[in-house]
Amino acid sequence: MPKNVVVLGTQWGDEGKGKIVDLLSEHADAVVRFQGGHNAGHTLVIDGEKTVLHLLPAAAVRGVAECLIGNGVVVNIQQLLKEITQLEERGILVRERLLVSYACPLVLPSHAALDVAREQARAGDAIGTTHRGIGPAYEDKVARRGLRLGDLLRPEYFAQRLASVMDYHNYLLQNLFHAEAVDPQLTLDQILPAAERITNLLGDVSAKIWQLCEQQKSVMFEGAQGMLLDIDHGTYPYVTSSNTTAAAAATGSGIGPLALDYVLGITKAYATRVGAGPFPTELSDALGAQLRTQGNEFGATTNRARRCGWFDAVALRRSRQVCGLSALCVTKLDVMDELAQVKICTAYRHHGKSIHLPPYGAEALAECEPIYQTMDGWQQATRGLRQYHQLPQNAKAYLARISELSGLPIDIISTGAERNDTIMVQHPFA
Ligand code: GDP
Ligand code: IMO
Ligand code: MG
Repeated sequence: MPKNVVVLGTQWGDEGKGKIVDLLSEHADAVVRFQGGHNAGHTLVIDGEKTVLHLLPAAAVRGVAECLIGNGVVVNIQQLLKEITQLEERGILVRERLLVSYACPLVLPSHAALDVAREQARAGDAIGTTHRGIGPAYEDKVARRGLRLGDLLRPEYFAQRLASVMDYHNYLLQNLFHAEAVDPQLTLDQILPAAERITNLLGDVSAKIWQLCEQQKSVMFEGAQGMLLDIDHGTYPYVTSSNTTAAAAATGSGIGPLALDYVLGITKAYATRVGAGPFPTELSDALGAQLRTQGNEFGATTNRARRCGWFDAVALRRSRQVCGLSALCVTKLDVMDELAQVKICTAYRHHGKSIHLPPYGAEALAECEPIYQTMDGWQQATRGLRQYHQLPQNAKAYLARISELSGLPIDIISTGAERNDTIMVQHPFA
């Protein structure tokens, strides 16, 4: 039976989506990125070889499934070419399997300059963005002044529009932020030759997915970032500038929501966050540092140290609700192997009341105090385990509690960064 599966992050990103998408892509005919841009960093480790992908779907390395980039993704052409070239140098001919939507908004160098300037101007209130220009690119899309990949097919029109949008960017850069302007001619001279190398990859991704569905093929949708970074439902304003929820798989690729059969929520066995914003279960002590070291929690895109904390079942409830999750995949269980005790946040205390869903808005969330349940750790190695019955009793109890608090089955457990360090309880494509 064909099945369309959405894989997304339920926390603040970096849950291990890349690993799981690569693993599951064996069963998919196509894998689609549908939002975000090269702010994402998805890591796969296959036989000890590590690959980090920022724009290409994580199925690119396996070399079988078609790789699609939907209209919801903002594209930096140079980055796209860089990733294609890096894979080609390893003998992985991804171009033959790649289709990028005409409707993808472009990320320009001036978007990155604006991103940096805005962050500097916010000073102590900075979001901690990746400085990739993602926010400004989405702003231009919504303001209906952005350029799209399809515009590259009309070079004269493109040059005109670029001059006009960069006029606007440079006005802001110079007059509002007192920053340096970005040279429009230089930008054009960089983009046009690069564009020539990608125009044959452009196409109608919506029509392609429709066709795949008609042919009874299975399509997987690969989310970037995580639910708590969603522009509407996340910890606004400390969020990214796209919808990261399951519904975005439909709008960001051009299919109807009823085509989505199953939504897998990737959740780390603890919590991490990069950048600023409230994080109720954050551990600012030695234990947080231990998780960071054990879990190698340093950003795949910016190499920043990730903030670490206990598992937050309250936040997960919001993800379940907003994304309509079918099941969970719990990753990085092995990172907690040495802990004598583990904690799960089961509720928040807010203004003297106990609440079971996170409030909207960063200010209110910052007022919440976590209420914890403490459990005994397992203090045995789970790293690399591939069978559920091999798990220590206390690890099983920890997972069972996560399942109970979220009301969701745990279909996959990840016990290491390697592709096959995985316990498949129930295969999403089954
Ligand atoms: P993504 O953005 O959700 O794809 O996640 P990242 O790639 O940014 O971060 C996840 C990190 O954890 C990567 O370095 C992965 O190689 C690694 N990883 C994924 N799953 C596991 C796991 O189960 N155990 C361990 N120890 N590492 C994992
Ligand atoms: P993956 O797909 C973790 C965070 C940034 C910042 C906020 C806004 O690898 O899980 P942006 O550059 O998007 O305007 O930054 O969002 N952020 C991520 N954090 N993983 C990601 O992607 C992220 N992409 C953006 O750190 O807090
Ligand atoms: Mg990442």
